Amino acid sequence: MKRQKSQKAGGVLIVYLLFFMVFGSINIHADEIQKAVYMEIEGSESVAYLVKEINSLEKPYNYLIGTTTFPAIEILGVMAALGALAFGLLHGFGRFLAGRKIPLFLEEVGKDHIYGWITRMGHWLNALTVLGLLGSGFIMHYMGPDHLSGYIHNQLGYFLLTQYILFLIYEIATGDIKQFIPQLWEIKEGILKQALFYAIGIFKREEHPYHMKKDNRLNPLQKPAYFSIMFGLMPVVVLTGFTLLRPDIMGFLIGWIGGLENMKYIFILHLISAFGMLAFLIGHLYLASTGDNVKQHFEVMITGFHRIYKYRLKD
Ligand code: HEM
Ligand code: HEM
Repeated sequence: MKRQKSQKAGGVLIVYLLFFMVFGSINIHADEIQKAVYMEIEGSESVAYLVKEINSLEKPYNYLIGTTTFPAIEILGVMAALGALAFGLLHGFGRFLAGRKIPLFLEEVGKDHIYGWITRMGHWLNALTVLGLLGSGFIMHYMGPDHLSGYIHNQLGYFLLTQYILFLIYEIATGDIKQFIPQLWEIKEGILKQALFYAIGIFKREEHPYHMKKDNRLNPLQKPAYFSIMFGLMPVVVLTGFTLLRPDIMGFLIGWIGGLENMKYIFILHLISAFGMLAFLIGHLYLASTGDNVKQHFEVMITGFHRIYKYRLKD
C-alpha cells in the first residue's frame, strides 16, 4: 500500500517534470525573441516594446504596455478589487463585533482528512505563481515594461500554463472535477441557504449550514464560485497570456481576431481577466477566513486535516 502510494507520487512528479522540461525548452526560444525586442529598446526613452514584428509575424502591434490604457477597464477593474476589499473589511468588522457580543467556545470533537498532498501542493504553487504574475503584470501595466518584470512574468506565465494543464488532467483523470459541480438540490436551495448564512446567520453566530467531507468538500456557494474561476477565468488569463507570449504558436487565434493589428483585443482580455483574478484573490482570502474560526480553512489547505468543532455558549 505504502509502495503503491510512493509509486503514484513518483509518477506524478515525473509527469510534472516532463511538462516543465518541454515548456522550459520552448521558453528558451521565446526568451531569445523577447531579448531581441528588449535590445531594440535599450537606452531609448520611449518604450517601443512590442511595437515591432515578433518572429515571423509581419504586422506591428498597436498596443504599448504601460502607455495604452482604457479608462473604463481601469475604473471597473480597480472598483472590483476595491469592492472585494471593502466587502471583506465590512463583513469582517461585523463578525468581530458579533464575536464580542455573543462569545462562543469551540470544542474540538474530531478531525477529518480532506486534502491529499497533490491538491495542497498544487494549490500553493498556483497561489504563489498567481501572486507573482499579479505583481509583475501590474508593474508592467502601470509603470511600463522593464527587463526584470517582463522576464519574471514570462517565466511564471509558462509555469502557470504547465500547472493549469496538469490541474485539468488531474481533475478529469481522477474524477475530482465532480466536486466543483453543484447538485440539483444545491442549485434549488443550498446556494440560497449558504448565502443567507453569510448575510445573516454568521452574525448571529449560528453554525455553518454545511460541513466539509472528503467526497463533498465544497459548500453549495463555493462550488459554482471555484468552478467559474478554475474553468472560466483561468483558461482566459492563461490563453490570452500565452497568445501574447507566443503569437507564432497561437496563429490560428490571431487569424481569427483578424490579424496582429487587432492584438489589442488580446491585451484587453488579458487585462480584464488579470483584474478579475485580483478581485477574486482578495475575496478568496477573506472568505477563507470565515470558517468556524479564522484559521480553520487555512489549516486544512496546509495540513490536509479539517478540525470539527461543537459550538457552546461561553458562561
Ligand atoms: C493570474 C495570471 C496573470 C495575471 C494576473 C497577468 C497580468 C498581466 C498584466 C496586468 C499584464 C500587463 C498588460 C497590459 O499592460 O495591458 C500582463 C502582460 C503580459 N502577460 Fe500576463 N498575467 C497572467 C498570466 C499570464 C500567463 C499565464 C502568461 C503566459 C503564458 C502571460 C503572459 C503575458 C505577456 C506575454 C504579457 C505582455 C508583457 C510581456 O511580454 O512580458 N500572463 N499580464
Ligand atoms: C495567497 C493566496 C491564497 C491563499 C492564502 C489561499 C487560501 C485558500 C484556502 C485556505 C483554501 C481552503 C478552503 C476554502 O476555500 O475555504 C483555498 C481553497 C481554494 N483555493 Fe485558494 N488561496 C490562495 C490563492 C488561490 C488562487 C490564486 C486560486 C486560483 C486562481 C485559488 C483557488 C482555490 C480553489 C479552487 C480552492 C478550492 C480547492 C479545492 O477544494 O479543490 N486560491 N484557498
